Formats: sequence, structure tokens, C-alpha cells
Amino acid sequence: MATQNPPIPPVHGPAAAEWWERMDRHYDHEGKLMLAGQSAIDLAARYGTPTYIYSAARVSQNVARLRAAIDSVGAPNQLFYAMKSNRHAPLLAHLRGLGVGIDVASPGEVRHALHCGFELRQLSFTAGSLSRADYAALAGWSQLWINADSLTALRRLAEQSPGRQLGLRINPASALGYNELLNYSGSKPSKFGVYFDRFAEALAAASAAGLELIGLHCHAGCGFLTPQLDNLDRVFSRIALFLDAAPQITRLNLGGGLGIPLVANDDELDLNAWANLVRQHFGKRNLHLSFEPGDYLVKDAGALLTEVTQVEEKGGRIFVGVNAGFNIHPEPVFYKLPLVAAPAQRRDGPRARVVIAGNLNEALDLWAEDAELAAQQEGDVLCFLNAGGYGAAMSSHHCLRTEMTEHLLPITDCVGDIDVDQLAQANKNAWNSLYASTSKTIWGDDPLPFLDEFCVEFQKVLSTPSRVLDAGAGEGRNLPFLRSSGAAEVHAIDASKHALDKIPPALQMGLHSRVGDLAASGYPGAYFDAISLLDVFETLPNAEAVLAELYHILKPGGLLLCNIPGFDDGVAGHEMEALGADSFLYQHAYFFRFIDPQAAEHLITAAGFEILHSGRREWTEAPHPGFRGEQHEHVSHVLLMRRPLLRNPLSSD
Ligand SMILES: Cc1ncc(COP(=O)(O)O)c(C=O)c1O
Repeated sequence: MATQNPPIPPVHGPAAAEWWERMDRHYDHEGKLMLAGQSAIDLAARYGTPTYIYSAARVSQNVARLRAAIDSVGAPNQLFYAMKSNRHAPLLAHLRGLGVGIDVASPGEVRHALHCGFELRQLSFTAGSLSRADYAALAGWSQLWINADSLTALRRLAEQSPGRQLGLRINPASALGYNELLNYSGSKPSKFGVYFDRFAEALAAASAAGLELIGLHCHAGCGFLTPQLDNLDRVFSRIALFLDAAPQITRLNLGGGLGIPLVANDDELDLNAWANLVRQHFGKRNLHLSFEPGDYLVKDAGALLTEVTQVEEKGGRIFVGVNAGFNIHPEPVFYKLPLVAAPAQRRDGPRARVVIAGNLNEALDLWAEDAELAAQQEGDVLCFLNAGGYGAAMSSHHCLRTEMTEHLLPITDCVGDIDVDQLAQANKNAWNSLYASTSKTIWGDDPLPFLDEFCVEFQKVLSTPSRVLDAGAGEGRNLPFLRSSGAAEVHAIDASKHALDKIPPALQMGLHSRVGDLAASGYPGAYFDAISLLDVFETLPNAEAVLAELYHILKPGGLLLCNIPGFDDGVAGHEMEALGADSFLYQHAYFFRFIDPQAAEHLITAAGFEILHSGRREWTEAPHPGFRGEQHEHVSHVLLMRRPLLRNPLSSD
């Protein structure tokens, strides 16, 4: 373990920057690797290893950069995200908030997208070798856009869904990709799409079967960078031949495949040049264009943190062993795509060429065969950068080495440069100590006075098995309100065990309580009919992440009731030390954020909720022992919101 090692010598003087460093992924002056503002060593200590860390901020930047390029083409367009590259639910919720749709490649992915709050009309389905069960599932989702991958698929879709509007995946017989393993087309026949020699047959078959074939789809390979744009030019010319032969086509999906630099010599993809090619070939054809990248949006937003388990010379080579194998991230082995090995603590001293080995009983299980690393020791944290795509999503149970977690680091905008996760942790500790400091209840026993008026709404929304949740339940003061909904199960979650322990015995009866993090609650998706978040929002440094999680665990059509104080609340300005524009520390310990109703509504709609009620409530609170000595006034904006109802239930319309 790290604690048994001698102290790590500091880095002496400024070292040359690594090729992959950027503002949000760099070594600090002490040689600590910082990922989205947080030290990789701290992240590893907090979450354990192996763990995937994803930066929501970087994903947002990638989306924004790509969108700007796509918009510059000047055609109506839509951006989908290829879920196959990373299906971590909070990441999908983040992308939903950015207005990105989802490219789905199986009925399972359709269901997962629906669970994560997407609607069918926000999805685009492209997959091959479909089974009877797959076709039956697709037939139930009439709002889902499907790209048929073969003549067989056209025939089967026509049988199951006569009259359907759809697209056809074509094979341009011309390829590109980071290496030949990632070519989806080319001189060797591939399984994807319909070749030009059978295109007329496909069009005729679709028309004879009564299908309305109005879209084409082409994904020719993965990981292309600027040097491969000549190949893309050829691919686009081939697609143009298909378009010329099918004037009824109004929609063109150009797939994904945009790459990021993986080694020092790779240059970034020139997005302008890429967009120019798209414009040149398709800008003037009156087409609706769509794109479905995976890697480009998430790969460089992710890092895999591992622990060095052993360092040993064998057969003249130094082997650095880590506690993760190719089952956790198969790409380096399967596709020969290198990850960047970056020590969480940079060391002075010469670098050696080492083999980085995984922990599976497989000869193939090597992360790198020739990595240049300064001396590593047992217990060190070794990070693999550019691990956000096709890592966790392709993981397997091989050797039952499945101990891996994933974490999305939320955007830190509410508190400027402050590390949100650290702040959230310190904040949780502060509240926990407060609850532990007295055996009395701090908030009293009476529910908030405005809750009664929402009881009927909660009752109306219950569906079997009915479950309601008090999120941030504290000592349970508002549980009588949740009980009055009549739900079969009442749940309570709070970060403080001390708080939950103080819930009065009468309310504890039959209560399902859980100590947990509101941003990663651990409840399944679409689990609750209604959730309350009362006197909690303002105490959350990571409110956006919490909203995304609550959305995820609500059933479609489920309700969230929440109060959000603005600067007119009696607590605002009272013993508050400013952290950022709207964020403060109360008594140097407790995080508070005050936002006006408009900003609150914006946050909520950005998280995907529909607002059913939004109004101001005022009330008087008795003193809170150990927290606030005097009676005081509260003003809050109270919002009742709903996770939108899916137009179609999960398995059928
Ligand atoms: C049909 C299709 N679309 C999109 C993608 C996403 O590719 P990338 O992650 O390289 O952008 C893939 C990847 O396999 C794919 O097969």
C-alpha cells in the first residue's frame, strides 16, 4: 500500500509539459496529476481503484466544438451520441441536458436511453444481425428512427412494421480509421450496410414492401484524424453516388469516427477541414444531416485510475503490474489503440521503457509494451488517459476481475475554481458532525408548512409498485408528508447516518432508509413515483449532478418537489462567507447557494424536467439548536416538477 512506501520525492523545478496536458488535465507545481480540477491521487483515495473518472466539463466542450463545426456546414442537422462508447447513466443525463440525441445499437441500448430520460424521437437505431426478438422490440417502438443494415432487415422490418419511414445503412467500399482494425469498410468485404451493387435492389425491395426509405446512413471507420481526411473525401464521394441514385433521400447520417490524438505525434483532427468536406459533398443537396460520434465526445474526457501492484524485472524487462486488466478496458489489446500512461504523482529521475501488465491470466493482457515511465513503486496510482470511450462500456467479467467503478465529475461553475467534490465532501462532514453534536432534533418535528398542498399531486402519480423518496431526509421532519401520499414504500436517503438515526421510531417503522450520496444514490433507474428534496437544494455544491440523478431514478411521469431559496431568504447574508457569485459558506462550514427563481427554473429545465408549479412560499422557523439560535423567516421558491412522460411505454407504443 502507498502508506508503506517511503515518501515520494517532489518534482524538482518545472518539468517540461507532457504532450497531452491541457487546462483541465495537467501536472500541478508539485507534480500531481490534476483531472478536471481534482488530484488523481485524491480521486483514487476517494473512489478506490480501478475507477473511471469522466469530466462533464470536457464533454460539454467537445459537444460545443463539434456543434460549431457542424453548424458551419449550413444544413439542418442533429447531433447524436454513440452510446456504445460509454453508457454511464450520469454521463448520458449530462448529454441529454446538452440537447444531444443518442445513437443506439441494440434494444437494450434503447431501453437504457429511455431509462436515462431520452424519448424515442431523440434516438437513432443502427445495428445488424438482428434477431426475431430484436425485430419484435423494434416493432413496438414506432417513433424510433431505424437504419436498416441489410436487405434482410428491410424485409423483416416491412413484415413487422409496414409503412415505416426509415433509413438504410450503406457500405461505401472505401474506408478510414485510426488503424486497419478500425476500418468498417474497404477492400475486404465487411458486414456493415448494403454495397452499391445491391443498392437498387434494396430501394426496390423497400418500395415493394411499402417502406418509406428516406434516409441513408454511413459509418466507415473509427478514430480518423486530419491525415485520413483524403480517405474521408473518397468515402464521401462514394456516398454521393448512392445519393445520386436515390433522389427520394432527404436525410443523411454520416456516422461517427472522428478521432482524438492518442500519441504525441498525432495532430488534432482539423474540424474546419472536416466540416468543409461535409459542406462540399452534401451542403447543397437539401439534406438533413446527422452525426453520431462516440469517442470524439467522451474519449479525452475520461481517465482510468489504477494502482501499481508490483514492479519487477523479468527476462531483462521491467514489468509494472496494475490492478486492472483488458477486461476493464479492452481497446489497447483488441484494437491496438494506445492509452496514455500517466503517473498520478510525477517523479524526478530517468525514465525507463517498461511493460505495463494487467492482472488477468492472459498473455495478451498488457496495457503497454514500451511505456516510458519514471520509476514506479507498489501502491502508486497509475492513470490511463483518453479512457472515456469504449472502456467501461466494453468491460467484461473475465477472471471475475470486475471491481471497477465510474464517476462523472460535475461541472464546477457554481463555485468558480473550487474543487466541487472536495467541497461536497467537507460539506457532508460538516452536516454529519452537526447531527452528531446533539441528541435533539435540529430541525424540529413539524413538516414544512407548504407541503400539504402537494399531497394530492403525490397521491395521483403513484403506480404499482408505488415508492416515494425523501432525498436529503435528515432527521425525517418531512416524512409524515411522504407517508400521507399512501405509497407502499417510503424511502429516505441522506449523507448523514447520524441524521437518519435520529428519525423518530414511529417514522422509522417500515421506512427504507439509506446513507448515500444524492448524486450517485445507487437506486435503479425509473424507481420512484415521487421524490421530495426539501431544504436541501441550497446545501448542494453539486446540485446539477443531483438533479440528473433524481431525474434518472424517477419513473417517467414521476414528480420532484423542491424548494430553492433566493437572496431574499432570511438565511442569505447571515454569517455567510462568499465562495462564488451565488455560493457561500455558513459559519465557515456549511455550503449554501442562493439562486433566483428564473435561474432555478433554468437549471431544472436544463436537467430535463417539466415544471408543473413554481411559486413563492414564506414561513417562520423556530431556532435550530447548534445551527441557528433565533427564530427566523424563510422565503423559498417552491417547484413541483415532473420527469416527462414518455409518449411510449418502454417496450411498446
Ligand atoms: C454505426 C456507428 N455509429 C457511430 C459509431 C461511433 O464511432 P466513434 O466512437 O468512433 O465516433 C460507431 C462505432 O462503432 C458505429 O458503429
